[in-house]
Amino acid sequence: METLSGKKITFCVSGGIAAYKSADIASRLVKSGADVHVVMTRHATEFIGAATFQALTGNKPRMDLFESESDGSITHITLAQECDVILIAPATANILAKMAHGIADDLLSSLLLAASAPVLVAPAMNTFMWDKPATQDNIRILQNRGISFINPVSGILACGTEGVGKMADPEDIIRRVTNLLTQTGDLCKREVLITVGATREHLDPVRFISNRSSGKMGFALAEAARDRGAKVTVIKGYTEIPPPYGVNVVPAETVEGMLEVCRFHIGNADIFISAAAPADYMPSIGAAHKIKKSEMGERWTLEMVATPDILATISVLADKTFIVGFAAETENLIDNAKAKLYAKGLDMIVANPLLEEGSGFGADTNIATLLFKDGRMEPLGKLTKRSLADRILDTILMEMVEKHN
Ligand SMILES: Cc1cc2nc3c(=O)[nH]c(=O)nc-3n(C[C@H](O)[C@H](O)[C@H](O)COP(=O)(O)O)c2cc1C
Repeated sequence: METLSGKKITFCVSGGIAAYKSADIASRLVKSGADVHVVMTRHATEFIGAATFQALTGNKPRMDLFESESDGSITHITLAQECDVILIAPATANILAKMAHGIADDLLSSLLLAASAPVLVAPAMNTFMWDKPATQDNIRILQNRGISFINPVSGILACGTEGVGKMADPEDIIRRVTNLLTQTGDLCKREVLITVGATREHLDPVRFISNRSSGKMGFALAEAARDRGAKVTVIKGYTEIPPPYGVNVVPAETVEGMLEVCRFHIGNADIFISAAAPADYMPSIGAAHKIKKSEMGERWTLEMVATPDILATISVLADKTFIVGFAAETENLIDNAKAKLYAKGLDMIVANPLLEEGSGFGADTNIATLLFKDGRMEPLGKLTKRSLADRILDTILMEMVEKHN
């Protein structure tokens, strides 16, 4: 089906090993009806020939900033502005760094600096390059400016190492381009409410009790739901990483505050995902002044009281909403997750071990098992948080059809 008919795509290919997959992407975009104009870096031509793209797209691939156009137009400005989307696949660590810092020293980087169309980036690189603070900082800079990422997945890389860095599957890349250009993602017209991060329960104005939730899983879910066309509201506790662009963010500090915001927003939500780590207990005191050592002496026994249960409260309030919880556990993972699923009246729970390598708070990957009310269980293995987010959303959509039948 020609879903991209009438759409013009500037397709940028930089010099990574995954450039060989770009031919497949170009071919699929053309088959979907798009008018595809390829721009390559000089290094990309070491991995794939321009003739391949010429044959697949019917348009001459560009590399040269100073190549003159027959109509007198300036190539990098036309390619940057007269298109519906700019896709970079693969995006090297180098091109991410250039984009983040406004370096424009060849045709591809110059057109990115002149871009007025939305930009979708599919990075691919060695795991060490991906993990380097320089690369991660550049990604954060770009995300904060509204650039959308199609995150790399985990796997065995061309260099022989295993880890995150493999370019997303061409099929996923085409789906993201199509969703963006046609606004027809499978969550289009759905409202998704997601709690994210750690809560802070105050002892006094300067001290609090919190936990190590990073917010990465919740933000991956928010990003995935956004990319699939949903209207996303994130109720954000404490996180050190910024929320994804294009979602509505409502801050909440304490469990009581988070519950209040959830109550306010739940009415319109089709899906509620509790990915935050709300504290189970809060100090019974909440002193208005800084507690002094001279007040408490050498030993201070702190009394804690249970916080309100956000998931249990919301699941009673919203029987039409599909409700998903997370169980992050250090022991008896499946039994604890099952108990939480039933006690809180959830439709589904995502169980993940906290102490396993590559899972839990702060990691970029997660090892999850999905559990359902009817006793079914689906282990998903180790996935990047973004891939897991998409698997969770795929499953929610299938389960929602069942629930409403
Ligand atoms: C065999 C080979 C494979 C490479 N694969 C990657 C890669 O997957 N990702 C990446 O960021 N850089 C990769 N590089 C390094 C880039 O080619 C290099 O950083 C180059 O300067 C990128 O230029 P460009 O961003 O202008 O295309 C590779 C280099 C070689 C020689």
